[in-house]
Amino acid sequence: AKQLLFKNPNEPPMVFHWFPFIGSTITYGMDPPKFFQENRAKFGDVFTFILLGKKTTVAVGPAGNDFILNGKLKDVNAEEIYTVLTTPVFGRDVVYDCPNAKLMEQKKFMKIALTTEAFRSYVPIIAGEVQSYFKRDPDFKGKSGIVDIPKKMAEITIFTASHALQGSAIRRKFDESLAALYHDLDMGFTPINFMLHWAPLPWNRKRDHAQRTVAKIYMDTIKERRAKGDADKELDIMKHLMNSSYKNGTPVPDHEVAHMMIALLMAGQHSSSSTGSWIMLRLAQNPRIVEELYQEQVKALGADLPPLAYEDLAKLPLNQAVVKETLRLHAPIHSIMRAVKQPMPVPGTKYVIPTTHTLLAAPGVSASDPSYFPNPGVWDPHRWQSDSVNAPTIVRNVVEEEEKVDYGYGLVSKGVASPYLPFGAGRHRCIGEHFANVQLQTIVAEIVRLFKLSNVDGGNTIIGTDYASLFSRPLEPAKIRWERRA
Ligand code: HEM
Repeated sequence: AKQLLFKNPNEPPMVFHWFPFIGSTITYGMDPPKFFQENRAKFGDVFTFILLGKKTTVAVGPAGNDFILNGKLKDVNAEEIYTVLTTPVFGRDVVYDCPNAKLMEQKKFMKIALTTEAFRSYVPIIAGEVQSYFKRDPDFKGKSGIVDIPKKMAEITIFTASHALQGSAIRRKFDESLAALYHDLDMGFTPINFMLHWAPLPWNRKRDHAQRTVAKIYMDTIKERRAKGDADKELDIMKHLMNSSYKNGTPVPDHEVAHMMIALLMAGQHSSSSTGSWIMLRLAQNPRIVEELYQEQVKALGADLPPLAYEDLAKLPLNQAVVKETLRLHAPIHSIMRAVKQPMPVPGTKYVIPTTHTLLAAPGVSASDPSYFPNPGVWDPHRWQSDSVNAPTIVRNVVEEEEKVDYGYGLVSKGVASPYLPFGAGRHRCIGEHFANVQLQTIVAEIVRLFKLSNVDGGNTIIGTDYASLFSRPLEPAKIRWERRA
């Protein structure tokens, strides 16, 4: 009773709201970064708000990121939050539909397949897909034009990722049935499904049908390949997963291989495609940078611009910085959630977070904090050069190797001190970072070879962000002007 009458002094301050269940859901949902910034100014780095009836505690800044993302397994839990969304989409027994220890092993299987050798073969595949896309797409006929770029980047992302990660046979199926099926699967990834994932809504029925159909396509392929035995010479991710065994000796079952194949493609699709769109919009706003990128390639690779190879990407620091800087300002994952399993004292404060709360990390807050990034609102890829006026103030922590730890899928940086964590940190850190970088850098390099970009109105309009989907992305239409290079 006492708890009902008096606010627990050990709980963080609560954001004011009028309505019990709704709480701050609307103000948060419309613009999460603004919501975090305003409440941080009021309350400091740790505060609580009501999200769909649930007390949700935000902890920001490098310490907040560390508190949540490196939380101990007995204290924090991701699968309880995410499983309602991901299990119907990926399928059973993978990622969040299994204990964390199993996910760690699955991440190891998936990560081992993403080797330097694999990346060497991916760059020509990705470059080839980009070239053929612009040759055949009717919106890129002629010398110049205007396009709504997010639709284009979504297609380029799925064609390049499926071809590289899943092979040419699966890629060909995207021209037939797979694109539509993945589109239906994607309908499962909306905020409304957090509440209505179980409901017999039309899009959920479509989602479930699509999941079964896609999984069957992969399982049939797996069966065929197993039947071929040694005659199947291809060494790709599917083959790698097919030949993997858990630590207890159990080989990975076919349905888990199939579901991991879906997860690999779906995990990166939104993040990479949204980032790709933001890159194009930012470049259109900064035609000068497009020219610098072009000249960078001419200088580093030669005026005849030979076919792009994996090793070339390292010779193009501005090309890399364009991706890095875009992820600083437009990280597609604005909120990372965890269930609280034990009361958790927040280091350096009097707060203890009870098990009735959800924790929310928002690494984007420190990535746009002026105490780490001078002129944080300015998109400036040159800031990643140490002599730039906008260089991060704690370059050492951002750029240098950080403390690393092995959660079961290889060493990952803990991100304890870094204000820049677009790929997360700790146990659940992204395994697709390197792939996403290779994919995006190759796409940018190829596009810069083909086109000059500019804003439709010639000015530098800034497109707003759409937070209504689970991954933030540009509000549509988001048009840019392209002009074919002579
Ligand atoms: C996890 C971001 C691309 C596969 C994560 C997390 C973030 C993230 C922030 C941590 C989530 C959490 O802690 O709850 C991104 C961004 C990408 C990207 C910004 C592109 C720009 C990819 C790609 C793949 C991928 C291309 C696959 C090839 C995964 C997987 C996890 C993950 C398997 C692990 C989930 C877990 O352990 O709970 N990603 N990602 N991501 N990502 Fe990515």
